[in-house]
Amino acid sequence: MKGAVRIRRSRCGVRRLDLYCGSHAVTDLIQLIYSSKPFGFDDAALNGILSIARWNNPREAITGALICRHDLYLQLLEGPQAAVEKRYASIARDKRHLDVVKRAFRPVTERLFPNWAMRDDPSRSWMWTAEEIDAGALDRATPEDVIAIFQRLAAEVD
Ligand SMILES: Cc1cc2nc3c(=O)[nH]c(=O)nc-3n(C[C@H](O)[C@H](O)[C@H](O)COP(=O)(O)O)c2cc1C
Repeated sequence: MKGAVRIRRSRCGVRRLDLYCGSHAVTDLIQLIYSSKPFGFDDAALNGILSIARWNNPREAITGALICRHDLYLQLLEGPQAAVEKRYASIARDKRHLDVVKRAFRPVTERLFPNWAMRDDPSRSWMWTAEEIDAGALDRATPEDVIAIFQRLAAEVD
């Protein structure tokens, strides 16, 4: 299947696009993680964001998770590079949050949240406190540190 493009459906109906070169499957999958500060955080705001994410993301083969609390959004987007970068660009312009900073970007061969158009997670006790975030914990964190947060979330039963 040299150079063939195959579109598959995963269990959740999210399209996955694989490019086959010879006998090797070359996927275009990337993960991007950013942080931001909510502007006007409440249930209605969060529901609005999750509704649009869950509508758009499956059509773009994007999956991921959004950690949300009054002082922090930390979102992992994963999918084909062009789709994720385009969606991230529109998210970064959104007025519902401020101080959008890209924290990690890497090619991957497997998704962490293959069954989630956008999983929503409250912040966990093992993450940084609001005081630590205020004191710059995120700015001191390495990309591996923020990836490890999502790896831990993904390891929980879903
Ligand atoms: C914290 C946050 C996370 C978001 N996550 C997504 C997402 O995963 N997918 C999505 O389509 N829109 C998401 N949005 C909404 C986008 O910013 C934007 O409103 C939406 O993608 C429509 O953009 P468009 O009109 O440019 O297509 C998010 C917004 C915020 C504030």
